[in-house]
Amino acid sequence: MSYIVAIDGPAGSGKGTLTKVVAEELGLVSIDTGMLYRCHALAVVRNNIDINDKENIIKIMDEIEINLVNENNIQTAFLNGENVTDKIRLPEVNNIVSLTSSIPEVREKVTNLERRIGYDWLKEGKNIIMEGRDITTVVFPEADVKIYLDATPIERAKRRLAQDTRNGIEENFTEVLESIMARDKNDMNKKVGALKRAPDAVYIDSSKLNIEQVKRKIIDVIERKTKDK
Ligand code: DC
Repeated sequence: MSYIVAIDGPAGSGKGTLTKVVAEELGLVSIDTGMLYRCHALAVVRNNIDINDKENIIKIMDEIEINLVNENNIQTAFLNGENVTDKIRLPEVNNIVSLTSSIPEVREKVTNLERRIGYDWLKEGKNIIMEGRDITTVVFPEADVKIYLDATPIERAKRRLAQDTRNGIEENFTEVLESIMARDKNDMNKKVGALKRAPDAVYIDSSKLNIEQVKRKIIDVIERKTKDK
């Protein structure tokens, strides 16, 4: 029988990287749900919808087609048939996605899409690993494995700074830390789909661990919880 692994955690906790490496090692299909919210935000930008125009931000959701394709664990995002995988990382999208993704009507539609994508893979007999902010609590509360991946804000800011430096983006530590803390506040205080720890999620603090060590911990949890599957 196929199984679902759900992972939530704050920005910079390493969910994205860990989901990929665990998927590779165990042969799971990985799904980054932030990409779906980013596709919708890109449509808002492209249609010049004002960030305060909630009505049209919701309406555009019915006029667009979002699709995620996963091949060999490389995910490609499509908006109305166009490959927008790079475009959804643009600063104009970064600047609004936190706001657009906090609208309950937008979340409801994306949640339905996430469930459809998840069940489609399960029907094909694949095991899936889906990461986001509300996967363990709202999207798949019945997931076979639930993990909350965390790290201290200082550690997450250090990682973000190192990542940006590698990408040639110059930043200052205090600004990065402030931005991480502002995002935490926003993510944790959403009316619907707020980031929170499901009581039955396994808590992993990655602050003092390297990628390999966190990967081992996650794989141990998955193997323990799915041994009878
Ligand atoms: O993980 P990310 O930075 O690509 O996510 C983009 C935005 O979408 C971020 O502001 C949080 C939001 N998001 C969400 O609210 N729920 C999810 N399941 C995934 C992402």
